Formats: sequence, C-alpha cells, structure tokens
Amino acid sequence: MKVYRDQDAHLEVLQGKRIAVIGYGNQGRAQALNLRDSGLDVIIGNREDEYRERASDDGFEVLPIAVAATQAEIVMLLIPDEVMSDVLRDQIVPSLSEGDALVFASGYTLAFGQVTVPDYVDIVLLAPRMIGAGVRDKYVAGTGFPSFTAVHQDRSGQARSLVLALAKGIGSTRFGVVEVSFAQEAELDLFTEQCFGPAFGQVLTTSVDLLVELGYPPEAVLLELYMSGELSYTMAKIAEMGLVEQSQLHSTTSQYGSMTRGMRFILPELRQRMQHGLDDIRSGRFAEEWAAEQTAGCPTLEMLRESARSLPLYRLEQQLRHALRGEPIPEELLEATEAPPAAPTDEAKVASEEALRSRPAAPAAPRGMLSRFLASLRGLLAPAPAAAPSGALSRRQLEHVLQRFCALASQDPALQAFSHGRRFTSHYVLGDAGLDFYMRFADGAVESALGVPVPAAEVRLETTSDVLDGMLSGRLNAMRAAMSGRLQFKGEAKVAMSQQQVQADLVRVYSQARGEVVGTDA
Ligand code: NAI
Repeated sequence: MKVYRDQDAHLEVLQGKRIAVIGYGNQGRAQALNLRDSGLDVIIGNREDEYRERASDDGFEVLPIAVAATQAEIVMLLIPDEVMSDVLRDQIVPSLSEGDALVFASGYTLAFGQVTVPDYVDIVLLAPRMIGAGVRDKYVAGTGFPSFTAVHQDRSGQARSLVLALAKGIGSTRFGVVEVSFAQEAELDLFTEQCFGPAFGQVLTTSVDLLVELGYPPEAVLLELYMSGELSYTMAKIAEMGLVEQSQLHSTTSQYGSMTRGMRFILPELRQRMQHGLDDIRSGRFAEEWAAEQTAGCPTLEMLRESARSLPLYRLEQQLRHALRGEPIPEELLEATEAPPAAPTDEAKVASEEALRSRPAAPAAPRGMLSRFLASLRGLLAPAPAAAPSGALSRRQLEHVLQRFCALASQDPALQAFSHGRRFTSHYVLGDAGLDFYMRFADGAVESALGVPVPAAEVRLETTSDVLDGMLSGRLNAMRAAMSGRLQFKGEAKVAMSQQQVQADLVRVYSQARGEVVGTDA
C-alpha cells in the first residue's frame, strides 16, 4: 500500500514553470488559489464569462484560454468534462509545446476515448476526492484532502514527480495521495455515483416509506434517519476512525443489535446489481449513452429531475428545512401536487403508496407555524381515509378496461405523435391476474393489445392489477411504485423513462376506457 505524503513531493520540481489553470469554477478557483499560496506562478485561462471576472477580482492575470496555454508549461484542465473535447482540440492542443504537461482533474474523458491528446507532452491526472470549496477550506485549515493521481504519458521522464509536486501545491499531500490509472479513477468515481450512492439512497427512501406507513411521525422519521445531521457526523467519524473502530462510539445495545441484525441484510442480489452497474461503466456503455443524451439536449435528465422534484419526499424535506430554521413555509410547498386519490382496492397492499401520495393539509383557521407544518406533513403522508370509496376492479373488469384502453390508445393522436421517430414496445405483466398486455410505438403508429408481444419487448414491467390500475388512473406514482418494489422493471431504462412524457395522455385514455367499462365510481 502506497500513500504519498508531503515528504514524497517537492515543489522545486515546479520552479521556473508557469502553471495555466484553465477554468475558474469549483475546482479551478480552489486549486489556483492554493497553488498561488504555495508560492507557484499561476495564470488563469478563461473564456469571457462571470468566472473570468471572479479570477480577476481575486488578483489573477486572466487570459484567453489559448493564450494562457501558450504562456505556460503546465496546463491544468479545470473545465467541465462535457466541453473538454472541443476546448482541448481547438484552444489548447495547438498551444502546447514539446515537454509541456497536461493535467486532468478527472479520468473520464481520456478513459472513455472522448479526447485526443498529443504524444509530445506529459499527460497526468490530479483528481481531488473533495469538492472545490473543500479543496480551498482544507488548504487554509492546513489539514489537506486526499487525491488520486495517475500518469498516462511520461514524455519528460518526470511526470510522476511533477504531478506529486502539483498535489503538494494544492495541499493534497498533507492528507495523502494515491496513484491509480485514469481508467480506475473514472470507474471508481462512476461506481460511487451509479451503484453505491443509489443503493444507499434506496435504503433511506425505503426506510422513510416503511416507517411513515407504520404511523411514525414523518418529521421524526426524517430527523431520525438523516436530517438531524447525526448520519453525516457518523460518516465523518467512519472516515476518521474506520467502519469497525467507530462502532465503539455507539452504545453496546447499538453494537449488539446492528451486528446481529446486520446479517439479515447480506443480500447476494445487491452484489450482482453492483456488478451489473460496473459492467455498464467499464464497457463504455454508460459513457456512450451519456454522450448521446447530451447531444440530444438532455431530455431524459430533465425528465428525471422533474420526477425527483415531484416526489412527496422532496416537499417534505423542504418543509422540514423551513420549520427547522423557524421560517414560515411557502404556500407552494403546502399545495397538493397530485390529484386527490381514488381509494385502492386493497388498502393493505397499497398503503405505502397511498401514504406517500401528496395530499393537501386540511384547510383550517390560522395556526402556529409548527402545528401548520406538522398538519401539512401528516396530511401529505397520511394513509387514505378508510371511508374512501373502493375502486376495486375484478379480473374480468380489468380485462375489459384494458381491451378498451388498447383500442382507444391505438387511435389516440397524442400517443401517435409521441410514437413518431420511436420504435419500442412496453410489455406489462400482471402476475396476480395472469394478464399480459403491451404497447408498441413504431414510427407514428401505436399498437396495443392483450397478450405477449412478438418479438419480445424492449421494456418489461411486472406488477399487480391494483398497482397498474392506480398508475394508469393517475392515483399512483410509477417511480414510487418502482422504488417500493411493487413495480419491477426490466430492459432499457432510457426507453422506459421516455414513456413518462406521455404519462398524462395514458392516464387520460385509460380513465376514459375505465369510465366506459365500469363507470366513474367503480
Ligand atoms: P465547473 O463547472 O465549475 O467549471 C466552470 C469553468 O468552466 C468556468 O471557468 C467556465 O468559464 C468554464 N467553462 C464552462 N464551459 C466552457 C466552455 N464551453 N469553454 C470554455 N470554458 C468553459 O467545473 P468543475 O466542477 O470545477 O470541474 C472541473 C474538472 O474537475 C472536471 O474535470 C471535473 O470532473 C473535475 N472535478 C470536479 C470536482 C468538483 O468538485 N466539482 C471534484 C473533482 C474533480
């Protein structure tokens, strides 16, 4: 195990060399300030925008990118990865001389073949494991922060000592620096974002779902799980002491309980899913998909952001934040975001979904801010009242509704418009009813029928009759159903998400079919 520290790095390696920091955003500003405070010769290369002003205000000489790159021997690339390829090709590579050094802060673009680099310069990586603000704060505090370094091309024969010297200049060797490859840095970073983070997020949201459904006060649930800050404090202790050692900070009850019960959460499937996620990353499939998404103007990303903001949990968190700061809760946070529910057929089965569906606080005379907050919070999360009318569909009714839905959907102009330029099939499998139906979108046509599609669909959604009926009636949120395990999805995620664009039209058509077959009260 090798960790480079201050004594392994020497700033003298950088003597007589000018450093051009290209970009003055999160990392650019922090690294430039740290390098300058370490006594190094730093200029900034930036396009005409507000970051340029900021660098000027901080007392740096700021030049156009190509000019800065020409004047420096070391060029640090601190611009977003999405623009790296064009900026590098057009403004930086033509300005480089034999023996210069190009320094990346992320391995992504090089590892996934998105940039072309010249063979006559050093190519190194200095990737802080810290956001920009932390890079600066921890330098000023004198504690430092970890970084990964890599040497992709050692033209000068000094590339390793050069990148270690830069790591020292930004304050990282004070904490510790580890050498990896460009690909390893990029893959580890993406794994954390795509596997570890989402798995952890699922643990949190599943816990909220379950506890609120069982009647614990929502504000207590959010505080207990993460909004108290105890979790982040514990994470800081884990970073400082290690996962095993920090357990001593907890009571013996806690230690015994978590270690004995912890065994129940050793799930082989978790590892398999992580492996699958990593395969996507390492094969380059993710990078390819993300590049295409950017070229298309990020429609899926926008849709996902919108979906996340529409989750009741988002509003709850905002409300709790206002309440904890002693601020009044803005009206828009108290308004309902989804239509009032028609009751589920089997309340026990869909309790969790109902519990998390948005419902407005009951109108009331002006009250104290806290009680108003708590009432609205409980209103948002409360299970549907037992007196709500039942909307149960028998298997036979559901079959008729779906037949009518398929007929209407095939003729629907909005769904046909969505189908233009697309070609995919969604296959719905209702295990409890033994029913299958599918919708095929193909170049302007919509084909929808009961039965199993041939050829096989790109998207397969497995659920139960009541969950499907709830989703297509607009009562249940598909994302929440998926998150709580009552809707299993297989196939192409991007394709499945695109169908969200016509969710309102699907609800309209289904509601019409349902109304015609069983009447509006069923
Ligand atoms: P950022 O988004 O803060 O970068 C802003 C800078 O990029 C500004 O100076 C802006 O003028 C410039 N810029 C934006 N678009 C441009 C364009 N089309 N042409 C020329 N300049 C343009 O970037 P951030 O977050 O600092 O990331 C920089 C690098 O550091 C990336 O490679 C990133 O992966 C890496 N990194 C970022 C971390 C973070 O905490 N944000 C952590 C570790 C690495």
